[in-house]
Amino acid sequence: MSEMANTDPEGLDGVRMTWNLWPRTKVEASKCVIPLAVSISPIRHHPDIPVLPYPPLRCKTCTICLNCYARVDFTAKIWICPFCYQRNHFPPHYSMISETNLPAELYPQYTTVEHALPATPSAASAAAGGDPHVSPPPVFVFVLDTCMIEEEFALVKSAVKRAIGMLPEKALVGFVSFGTQAQVHELGFSDMSKVYVFRGSKEVSKDQIMEQLGLGRTAMGRGHPHPAAAAAAGYPQQQMQNGFKSSGVTRFLLPASQCEFTLDLILDELQTDQWPVPPGSRASRCTGVALSVAAGLLGGCLPGTGARIIALVGGPCTEGPGTIVSKDLSDPVRSHKDLDKDAAPYFKKAVKFYDNLAKQLVSQGHVLDLFASALDQVGVAEMKVAVERTGGLVVLSESFGHSVFKDSFKRVFEKGEQALGLCFNGTLEINCSKDIKIQGIIGPCTSMEKKGPNVADTVVGEGNTMAWKMCGLDRSTCLTVFFDLSSSERSNAPATVNPQLYLQFMTSYQNPEGQTLLRVTTVTRRWVDSSVSSEELVQGFDQETAAVVMARLTSLKMEAEEGFDATRWLDRNLIRLCSKFGDYRKDDPSSFTLNPQFSLFPQFMFNLRRSQFVQVFNNSPDETAYFRMLLNRENITNAAVMIQPSLISYSFNSLPQPALLDVASIAADRILLLDSYFSVVVFHGMTIAQWRNMGYQNQPEHQAFAQLLQAPQDDAQAIIRDRFPVPRLVVCDQHGSQARFLLAKLNPSATYNNTSELAAGSDVIFTDDVSLQVFFDHLQKLAVQS
Ligand SMILES: *[C@@H]1O[C@H](CO)[C@@H](O)[C@H](O)[C@H]1NC(C)=O
Ligand SMILES: *[C@@H]1O[C@H](CO)[C@@H](O)[C@H](O)[C@H]1NC(C)=O
Ligand SMILES: *[C@@H]1O[C@H](CO)[C@@H](O)[C@H](O)[C@H]1NC(C)=O
Ligand SMILES: *[C@@H]1O[C@H](CO)[C@@H](O)[C@H](O)[C@H]1NC(C)=O
Ligand SMILES: *[C@@H]1O[C@H](CO)[C@@H](O)[C@H](O)[C@H]1NC(C)=O
Ligand SMILES: [Zn+2]
Repeated sequence: MSEMANTDPEGLDGVRMTWNLWPRTKVEASKCVIPLAVSISPIRHHPDIPVLPYPPLRCKTCTICLNCYARVDFTAKIWICPFCYQRNHFPPHYSMISETNLPAELYPQYTTVEHALPATPSAASAAAGGDPHVSPPPVFVFVLDTCMIEEEFALVKSAVKRAIGMLPEKALVGFVSFGTQAQVHELGFSDMSKVYVFRGSKEVSKDQIMEQLGLGRTAMGRGHPHPAAAAAAGYPQQQMQNGFKSSGVTRFLLPASQCEFTLDLILDELQTDQWPVPPGSRASRCTGVALSVAAGLLGGCLPGTGARIIALVGGPCTEGPGTIVSKDLSDPVRSHKDLDKDAAPYFKKAVKFYDNLAKQLVSQGHVLDLFASALDQVGVAEMKVAVERTGGLVVLSESFGHSVFKDSFKRVFEKGEQALGLCFNGTLEINCSKDIKIQGIIGPCTSMEKKGPNVADTVVGEGNTMAWKMCGLDRSTCLTVFFDLSSSERSNAPATVNPQLYLQFMTSYQNPEGQTLLRVTTVTRRWVDSSVSSEELVQGFDQETAAVVMARLTSLKMEAEEGFDATRWLDRNLIRLCSKFGDYRKDDPSSFTLNPQFSLFPQFMFNLRRSQFVQVFNNSPDETAYFRMLLNRENITNAAVMIQPSLISYSFNSLPQPALLDVASIAADRILLLDSYFSVVVFHGMTIAQWRNMGYQNQPEHQAFAQLLQAPQDDAQAIIRDRFPVPRLVVCDQHGSQARFLLAKLNPSATYNNTSELAAGSDVIFTDDVSLQVFFDHLQKLAVQS
């Protein structure tokens, strides 16, 4: 990309765009086929981002933050807003400003700066000891399923114990367990275990929950506030004395250091759900009520404070609201076929329930994290809305003993370099140059429905707004913003138009240390007049980003549009793209060539068509929901690997090297390392496997072989170490049963290469699993058709 750095494609800004040069008009933009979209990792870590200990100056007309694209008149002490051309006076504390004495936000290289803001008075200034710098501690409410076999239950309990031991001492902890009923455990009552029981069969309102827990107004004075505990937790004296809210804090949410012992005891004594399960039945599990109760507890005690509900679920909800399947085991959990045929009687109702839960959590500013471990589905597809809208984490595995769960769960609580850097209370606001319209965002956030001049009428994902809430976000959180251009004809007076467009992303959030930060990223790109020639436009195309954006858009449409034919839609767009940007003579497929800026894109689309995002019938709805949530929240590099895995080949006499994603890359004397994001596969060719089975690697004269065996293992571990959720590691041999994990991802070049099946005049390249070569041949034929 000519206008992008090569080494770190996201740079300081954490921004990538499908097009880095923008067409001038709506009509030209629609001819580009691939939408104008920007992916941004709003709080990505970068060592060079300056942190400024003061709030930003804002334009008095359009409210954008002062940035390095402002024009400055040093003698008059004025800056001109690049967005609305308003002239703004610098305030007195900027009076020292000159060409040689610039504040950091005006340095040309600091397109991204971070402002450290004073703690919000309501949350912190009245807090413990009156110290305005003490911020509220993070809050974790564990919601534990008890309907499990003993082994699984022991595993998940010990994971929770370990997690609590890793929490910061001040972090507040709450505990809810559930089976047939939901129980809230009163941790501030250590003499004996005291629980509040909620029926699992009926929806329970927030008021009822608060009332029953003694958190409602009527319960004033019924609580027993322990002032010391509340103060240690950093809660405002004012609230403490008022009693009702803080009573909840001292009874149900305690600092980890104070309740670790009590919680250990509770977990030791906690049994699997004792409700009898008749043969042929599923356990009665009220996941929906349990999550409502946890949300009500947090809403009653700490609205507006960063808190996570950590749900550990071992099976489907079968009781009360949120139910996804009946208790009768002969009635299977809904499949994609059922959803397609509208034969999933519980689905819509459950989604509606979780949609309401999402709204409640977002209004309270709280996050739902979901750790689902079971052989069957648990309802991730239904719960997705609550996880994604709140910016929660999700991990799906087969067992609480599997490394995918165990190692991922540990990462959530780890400190130091391995920490995920979980942040709270994020708000993203976007401002852009006139004539640019924001359609919406795909990713972990919720529209705040804040209208503004740049809001488009057509909506993609979370739209109708210039501001989005991210209750939970972290360093890897990525969002995709879709843009459109206004239909007014700007090209009428091109000379007066600024050749540059500007976008500003403002993200305020609370970091793990409780500090409030405002990150401001301002980016500029050039308008190009593509009505004459598309040559310039082509130079700004980012094919990797474009592939990921198409994958996200396809997934969204598959969920939102009934009867949407993803393969056909992708093929049509690819053909249109190649017709527009390819070089060819009409009706002569052999003359077809693609500019290098586009040359990898068809292969991305080929792999996307075959991927789990489009071929959903090979997976369960839970798996699909899981894959899509991660596709939407990971950065472009990682998301691209989900669509088109990377393959590395290891052999004697050569360094490890990238191999074609094709069955032809398999060889008896090679080891292959496949990274498909969700799994990492080490695949030994037949000869390698035989030598290994004979133990050659243990013989001193075969040291080179030992090294060859070890290298892909080390590289696999390096991938696994950095990734969240931790991927599944598969080590297998050619012709072994696990080899399918590799084979499923490879281009079947040797199996299907029959080109004569192309239906004349069709706009579908092929509906079946064809090889890449066949795909390309058809694409060329269709692209050059007049
Ligand atoms: C920027 O955003 C603010 C608040 O959302 C809005 O009032 C203002 O008009 C926007 N300005 C531009 C130039 O988009
Ligand atoms: C959360 O963020 C919003 C918007 O930035 C801010 O107004 C509010 O005070 C924050 N809440 C807390 C508890 O920090
Ligand atoms: C994408 O995310 C991974 C892991 O979170 C990180 O290692 C990598 O540097 C990121 N890539 C870019 C280009 O930011
Ligand atoms: C597919 O094509 C390749 C080369 O064009 C050829 O070697 C191979 O035998 C073909 N396979 C089949 C099944 O026709
Ligand atoms: C290719 O497909 C056509 C039509 O389905 C069939 O008649 C022909 O035998 C096939 N050729 C090969 C080599 O499989
Ligand atoms: Zn302005």
